[in-house]
Amino acid sequence: MTSPQSLLIRGARIILPNGEFLLGDVLTRDRHIVEVAPTIADNTATTEIDAAGLTLLPGVIDPQVHFREPGLEHKEDLFTASCACAKGGVTSFLEMPNTRPLTTNQAALDDKLQRAAQKCLVNYGFFIGATGDNTPDLLAAHPTPGIKIFMGSMHGQLLVDQEAILESIFAQGQRLIAVHAEDQARINQRRQQFAGIQDPAIHSQIQDNQAALLATQLALKLSKKYQRRLHILHMSTGDEAELLRQDKPSWVTAEVTPQHLVLNTSAYERIGTLAQMNPPLRSPQDNEVLWQALRDGVIDFIATDHAPHTLEEKAQPYPNSPSGMPGVETSLAVMLTAAMEGKCSVAQVVNWMSQAVAVAYGIPNKGAIAPGYDADLVLVDLNTYRPVLREELLTKCHWSPFEGWNLTGWAVTTIVGGQIVYDKGKLNTEVRGQALSFV
Ligand code: DOR
Repeated sequence: MTSPQSLLIRGARIILPNGEFLLGDVLTRDRHIVEVAPTIADNTATTEIDAAGLTLLPGVIDPQVHFREPGLEHKEDLFTASCACAKGGVTSFLEMPNTRPLTTNQAALDDKLQRAAQKCLVNYGFFIGATGDNTPDLLAAHPTPGIKIFMGSMHGQLLVDQEAILESIFAQGQRLIAVHAEDQARINQRRQQFAGIQDPAIHSQIQDNQAALLATQLALKLSKKYQRRLHILHMSTGDEAELLRQDKPSWVTAEVTPQHLVLNTSAYERIGTLAQMNPPLRSPQDNEVLWQALRDGVIDFIATDHAPHTLEEKAQPYPNSPSGMPGVETSLAVMLTAAMEGKCSVAQVVNWMSQAVAVAYGIPNKGAIAPGYDADLVLVDLNTYRPVLREELLTKCHWSPFEGWNLTGWAVTTIVGGQIVYDKGKLNTEVRGQALSFV
């Protein structure tokens, strides 16, 4: 393990917490940012980075990923996933409980934390999964960003689709509940209706907008009844966004994935089952309504739902092909490219991918570039476009739905806790992140 050092980043275009840019220097010492100024006179720094022409952003906090360890390491593991994070400018992640064993009690949570401490190049936190009969575990779990409920598109123990059981979870305790909102009864019924169709495009019709809307309505109803902190994961439809626009209590947040913003059902024709995910890709009209909701603050932030499956698994004909696509390596570049195209500003991307996530999950000292904050940073190049190439991907599944896309805003240097973890194509695999805390 490398020891924390002192870094002086010189001449960067630095994004400040108020969204303005400063051309200047940043000094970090022992994991923290100590100074941000137009020029810093310091010749004691162990390492100096010439950042001329580059933009310095707070590291991305990805609040929804599936990193597959333990139990599904043929798809991904905490080491490979965190290497992909470092390359993508992601310095912290919140991981989901559908591993093997499921993360549904303290022992399983502790096991993940221990594995991460040994293997993770970036900072980490793990959700606790609701099964419907583990409320004491949900109440006691620590540290965790919150409770994950799969209201649909899940089998086995992690599926909680009965209103009475959902209500008993919402009624007990106070911690954040994050929902995968799809209505399982509707999905089951439509699976039968469309049985035998192997065109993966049918996936978006089986798990349709109405399935997502019904579950989001139910989660909102329960959250309002108990004033329970609710987070809606990967909101995918214009219908849900319009619902929230009309009726969003102050204790409710929502996220959207880059793929639900920039991909739609036309992707099935190009990449087949690689475009299959839950909730599914929607129409171009949904893309636009989601973008507007994000710009208006109806949707609070971005998550990738990084959910890798091997190409062999994905090559099975629908519906045997598993749902999910990787994202941590491309999310920042996809969003910054959208910013360069005029969809939003760079400051908005930073808010959605760092600051707003830290605020929503109560992660102290992260998500901004200011003295006292953790030195989790990413230097990006907004002047160069490069294509997404399969051979360059670090995720163990080795594919991306964005292969061939020409993107800008790629991470040049990623810094975790004041240590350079990625620099111009090279990883420092000695660096380790830390467990996140949630207040
Ligand atoms: O497409 C998805 N795949 N959505 C999820 O919510 C789960 C994920 C997975 O774990 O593969």
